[in-house]
Amino acid sequence: MTNQEVAKITLGENTFDFPVVQGTEGEKAIDISTLRSKTGYITIDEGFANTGACQSAITYIDGEKGKLRYRGIPIEVMAENSTFIETAYLIIYGELPTRKEMSNFSQKVLRNASLHEAMMHFFDGGFPFSAHPMAILSSLLNSVGCYYPYMVTNQREQDLEHFDDAAALLLSKVRTIAAMTYRMKNGLPLIYPKRDLGYSQNFLHMMFTEPYHEYYPHDDITKALDLILLLHADHEQNCSTSTVRMVASSGANLFASVSAGVCALWGPLHGGANMQVIQMLQEIHATGDDGTKFIERAKRGEAKLMGFGHRLYKTYDPRAIILRGAAEKVLNIVKLKDPLLDIARRLEEKARSDSYFIDRNLYPNVDFYSGIILKAIGMPLDMFTVMFAIGRMPGWIAHWREVASKPKGKISRPRQVYIGSPLRDYVKMRYREGEISSDYESDDHKSHGFGSSENASAKA
Ligand code: ACO
Repeated sequence: MTNQEVAKITLGENTFDFPVVQGTEGEKAIDISTLRSKTGYITIDEGFANTGACQSAITYIDGEKGKLRYRGIPIEVMAENSTFIETAYLIIYGELPTRKEMSNFSQKVLRNASLHEAMMHFFDGGFPFSAHPMAILSSLLNSVGCYYPYMVTNQREQDLEHFDDAAALLLSKVRTIAAMTYRMKNGLPLIYPKRDLGYSQNFLHMMFTEPYHEYYPHDDITKALDLILLLHADHEQNCSTSTVRMVASSGANLFASVSAGVCALWGPLHGGANMQVIQMLQEIHATGDDGTKFIERAKRGEAKLMGFGHRLYKTYDPRAIILRGAAEKVLNIVKLKDPLLDIARRLEEKARSDSYFIDRNLYPNVDFYSGIILKAIGMPLDMFTVMFAIGRMPGWIAHWREVASKPKGKISRPRQVYIGSPLRDYVKMRYREGEISSDYESDDHKSHGFGSSENASAKA
């Protein structure tokens, strides 16, 4: 929505007016879409901390106040009352489902749980055992689309016509691919999904059932996993979602776009942080440190306190507060006295009273406690970021749809300020290697430069 306010930018003698856009919650942005055509200038904002790339109706975050809402509903309310699949519906379609809509959606997700038999060959020598699960996930999410060519046309109208099926299919198959990747990497027989299990329970079944021993998770373990997925379901324009939107803006299909999202999520500063938290806690534990020395190293810039800090939250990440309680509960159920949880608590206490962390607004983020829960459930470390990807799938799908449904949407194509070499000549190899002295001025030497010809053509 444009509001009455006008932003004035003065450059030299001239002042230019730009409209101000206001969001539902009162946040304001200067619409600079005509900046370059009016002034010849562009803006620069490395890391995009001050740049709104779009207007979106999916998720609202107030980082200063620690608020997160899916389609207007606070995360705490969703965590208390909803499930991952219902939350996925809300995020993708914008409204809470009716009973009938919920049943149809769940059935569609359930029906799509199996992989095409031809895809099973990927788990039979298609990847080395050492392959990272995120690499497998990204490849196979893109590959899934090949089995449904009518959903992957790269023709916007046709891709959107099959959106409901593609969305349910991806939500379901991301979980199957993840579980089968774990089984393959550990030399375990692949376990097929069951029709009578819910989303998270089916995942745990595919992960941990053995042909000779059915795995029945404690209800609270299933709930904790479902909660982790729900809390990760969307987080507006984070790195992976922005990647999905950027890929989508080129007209690419949903499968290709979410596959790119997985790659962006893999990085340790984004989704990879949950696994880094456990590695950090294990390292601290192994050295006999109670966290004190590590905090000092972090303050000297020699280490990062993984699971701390966030681009948006300048107070507690509300998801971390919910997961802190859930972590205690899960550890009680599995009767695990995890020394890592004690170190985590101590790190949090120390960081919360230290001016280095206070001055920089560094609070625990969602990854700080999700890692502890995943470890207690028995999830191997290299699957942590995969869990994040399963959780984030509804968000990626919803954002793809928002981009794809926009009439006359623009391709994302930022500009840059070039800081490389000014125009210069191409120097032939024999001059670069010193075979002919560089001060030897022959006609050949004089005529070797493409730069010169650019100048010449510019003058012509
Ligand atoms: N430990 C110690 N110091 C930190 C940390 C940290 N975890 N995070 C930031 N700082 C310091 C920086 O060194 C910097 O200090 P300086 O001002 O003295 O130079 C200051 O705090 C600001 O940090 P930036 O890196 O500029 O903050 P930015 O908003 O760009 O980065 C980020 C946010 C990437 C999340 C960062 O806090 C970080 O690396 N955290 C650890 C990794 C992590 O937990 N990532 C998960 C993020 S949540 C998610 O993706 C789900």
